[in-house]
Amino acid sequence: MFVRAIILLVATLSAVAIAASLRQVTNFGENPTNVSMYIYVPDKLAMKPPILLFPHWCHGSAQAAYSGSQYSNLANTYGFIVIYPDSPNQEDKCWDVSSKQTLTHNGGGDSLGIVSMVRYTLDKYNGDPNRVFVSGISSGAMMTNVLIGAYPDVFAAGSAFAGVPFGCYSGPSFNYWNADCAEGRITKSREDWAAMVKTAYPSYTGWRPKMQILHGTRDEIINYTNYKEAVKQWTAVLGLSELPTSTTQNTPLQGWTKYVYGEDRFQAYSAAGVPHNIPNQESIVMAWFDLRCTTGDCFSRPGGGNGTVFRRTFMA
Ligand SMILES: *[C@@H]1O[C@H](CO)[C@@H](O)[C@H](O)[C@H]1NC(C)=O
Ligand SMILES: *[C@@H]1O[C@H](CO)[C@@H](O)[C@H](O)[C@H]1NC(C)=O
Ligand SMILES: *[C@@H]1O[C@H](CO)[C@@H](O)[C@H](O)[C@H]1NC(C)=O
Repeated sequence: MFVRAIILLVATLSAVAIAASLRQVTNFGENPTNVSMYIYVPDKLAMKPPILLFPHWCHGSAQAAYSGSQYSNLANTYGFIVIYPDSPNQEDKCWDVSSKQTLTHNGGGDSLGIVSMVRYTLDKYNGDPNRVFVSGISSGAMMTNVLIGAYPDVFAAGSAFAGVPFGCYSGPSFNYWNADCAEGRITKSREDWAAMVKTAYPSYTGWRPKMQILHGTRDEIINYTNYKEAVKQWTAVLGLSELPTSTTQNTPLQGWTKYVYGEDRFQAYSAAGVPHNIPNQESIVMAWFDLRCTTGDCFSRPGGGNGTVFRRTFMA
């Protein structure tokens, strides 16, 4: 009895010791603004694991983004890796979505430090470079827009909750709070919004990641105008009409309307009556990224840039 109890105890302790947890990684590559990297690698990893990046909101942290979302549990089931970057800005823990550096491909700023985390993880865990995804809420959504705009070669898709268009926050310094953008006073033509994205990486002519945005009509912090401007921007960047190809009401929640553009390259959810504190919708994001797919034709970037948008991946 006693021996059994000891064996059980030892077994339990070793299970705890090897169970996956949130871990900090240092020395992951170029990181001019000193962004911190935290990673969740599930015990059972897919053979060529997809990577999900989940930057936190203002006043948040990697730990808060980890414990405040279901992604690590979902990673346990589906074998992908989650990266939680942590903002170096100790004042308000918002991301640098304003500097010229962060808005430029390989230009520096927080975006480069974050992309270094992706490059490191792809290399270290034999990740799937065609299945790298980013989602975030509020400041994390702004960073999602920045990454999709400045690093179109790195990501397959983005999903942004209550963010702003790429470049809307641009300003004279790092960590600049652009009140004109937040309060909905920055509006541009489709062409001008698309030109800002083009300017981030002028030589890039390859495939562009697909994009999803979600925004509450009663957002009191990041005005709903930013939703309309982001629709202009991403439909223009992706070469789509501003007219949706389908509209679905009351999905996933009562009062939310889903608009699909083109052949599902861009999706926008307008959440009627919802304030800035928009509830995360992991299942919508998982579906958009096809992260439950572990075998067969999972959604991914077209390998090498030619034609097909699908390729096979296998679970270990
Ligand atoms: C970078 O960030 C870490 C953790 O936030 C901090 O301990 C360290 O002093 C910072 N380094 C620099 C050079 O700012
Ligand atoms: C968003 O901005 C518009 C135009 O300035 C304003 O009418 C509206 O009240 C703002 N929305 C919120 C929720 O503050
Ligand atoms: C892409 O297409 C071109 C022209 O059909 C072909 O020469 C090239 O090998 C293809 N590249 C890949 C990676 O499939």
